[in-house]
Amino acid sequence: MNLTQKSVFIVLEGLDGSGTTTHSRLLEGFLKNEKLKVHLTQEPSKNEIGVLLRKFLKDNSIPPTTDALLFAADRDLHYHNEIKKKLDEGYIVISDRYLESSIIYQSLQSDEISIDWIEELNKFVGQPDLTIILDIDPRISLARKSGALEKFEETPFLDKVRDLYLKRAKKKGYFVINTDDIIEFTQKQIQKIVINKLKK
Ligand code: TYD
Repeated sequence: MNLTQKSVFIVLEGLDGSGTTTHSRLLEGFLKNEKLKVHLTQEPSKNEIGVLLRKFLKDNSIPPTTDALLFAADRDLHYHNEIKKKLDEGYIVISDRYLESSIIYQSLQSDEISIDWIEELNKFVGQPDLTIILDIDPRISLARKSGALEKFEETPFLDKVRDLYLKRAKKKGYFVINTDDIIEFTQKQIQKIVINKLKK
């Protein structure tokens, strides 16, 4: 397809069950197939703060402010020790969730938490070059989940998450893709956006 290798930071975002993990992996496979250097990562990250956060996702007694601070710390470490390094080496980096997840989930978790505060906490990390929001009705996305649900995985909360993602997408000019459709169709739409970015 003749795509140019360049360091592009791509983030896939969306509410729980929207398919960010599936589509990040498929996108990685597509780009590798094009002989491009790709680094796939996710948040919460694999570092120790990320591992702690995964545990806290099952614990409703953790104050939302603690979550916000830890997600910011996890991201700070993740960005400086992993993402930035890979970008500097010329890789395309795909992150399954990033800063926009904190802006959306943590600001909705508590009236005390403002988007401004989240942005302030996260002001030392780099911004993505491309953000794609996967949009879906939470009633459909939750039906896809198996096993015990984590703390944000309930319809009334995810309705708010969805609304805020769409509002932020409009404000920030993020791409929005509906993911009710068959996986291959959604993935093709994601690839189209990414190809466009790599051709420029
Ligand atoms: P998720 O992608 O759902 O992980 P998995 O599919 O492996 O269960 O992400 C975990 C949850 O973490 C999700 O509900 C959103 C939440 N989250 C935040 O609240 N803030 C953040 O900054 C991030 C990165 C995630």
